Amino acid sequence: MNKVSFFTLILGFALLATACKSGINSQTKNTSATASTLLETRYKMLLEYPVDSMSMPRSMNLKSSLIKKVPSRDWTSGFFAGNLWQLYRLTGNSEYKKQAEKWTPFSKKESVNSGSHDVGFKVYCAFGEGLKVEDNADYKKTIIKGAETLCTRFNEKTGAIRSWDFNKDIWEYPVIIDNMMNLELLFEATKLSGNKKFHDIAVKHANTTLKNQFRTDNSCYHVIDYNPDTGAVRKKTTLQGYNDDSVWARGQAWAVYGFTMSYRYTKDPAYLKQAEATAQFFMTNKDLPEDGIPYWDFKDPSIPNAARDVSAATVMASALYELYGYTQNKSYLTYADKVITTLQSDNYIVNPKINAPFILDHSTGNWPKKDEIDEPIIYADYYFLEALLRKKEL
Ligand code: GLY
Repeated sequence: MNKVSFFTLILGFALLATACKSGINSQTKNTSATASTLLETRYKMLLEYPVDSMSMPRSMNLKSSLIKKVPSRDWTSGFFAGNLWQLYRLTGNSEYKKQAEKWTPFSKKESVNSGSHDVGFKVYCAFGEGLKVEDNADYKKTIIKGAETLCTRFNEKTGAIRSWDFNKDIWEYPVIIDNMMNLELLFEATKLSGNKKFHDIAVKHANTTLKNQFRTDNSCYHVIDYNPDTGAVRKKTTLQGYNDDSVWARGQAWAVYGFTMSYRYTKDPAYLKQAEATAQFFMTNKDLPEDGIPYWDFKDPSIPNAARDVSAATVMASALYELYGYTQNKSYLTYADKVITTLQSDNYIVNPKINAPFILDHSTGNWPKKDEIDEPIIYADYYFLEALLRKKEL
């Protein structure tokens, strides 16, 4: 055996050992040919899922075979159309485009729902992806409408867009790190409409988040609660992390993605600096498994037996391809490539015998609520497809 194959073998064993420790099914890694056949099988299942105006597939419990379906008001309602648009761009198969056109209107009414900050996820992930494929006046109008709706949740005193309206007995004005993702809708709406207001509100929100949401080690809090009358920070806390001082993996990924995307529209070096610092925290963390797929929270005391979160890894991979484009820092490319290589194996691709419109297994939705633990979840697929596209376009 030559030196190279010896080291490849050792690396293979190390990856396998890490996967076993965290409960990931340990089978031999696929060749890339098998992985692409597996992926193609999974992709096609998105076409077979019937268009249903009442509900969208969000996640699946593989033990009970139950698919969780959600109405348009759910924060994930734009992802299925987004996945179909991205599959069209990846494969060139017009069947995906036809299906995407049918699914895109599903979340349209959310462009006037001011009940949460999630209007960005719901509207932009469907209509924004559609606009990348076809010039459609209705898609543009919907994005601008959505941006107007999102802006109604902005308050000058806090300098931030309010995330949630629930738990009013605990929080006065909660802002969560995930909210950075919704800024893309605002930045794009300014480009589409020429109305600077959307861009300016996005910048104010990003600046407030930059000021208050990060710890000195560049990890971030999940929730910051503000006093809406004075703008003062009341609490730094969590809803989806292990505890207030823990480091919820998907939250870190939202931060890296959100500040990289905000840099795209503003070229503010402070955003780039924060995205890089938080990416470093994530990528160099001693508790990041060898195969690059994080545990759902970097501070879960049950590591290495904690559940993984593939969605955090796919959000990071997609963000890092973009961040690499701005910095030429090879470590971002190395980590993103590692993630998408790791995921293209039968350890992570949903078994081809399972008839459901999902691609990747092992995401964790809401651990404190014991909801969607170690399951296929739609947004992991969305950012995986986006990462594949971004890699292709590099
Ligand atoms: N934005 C909600 C979540 O990441 O679970």
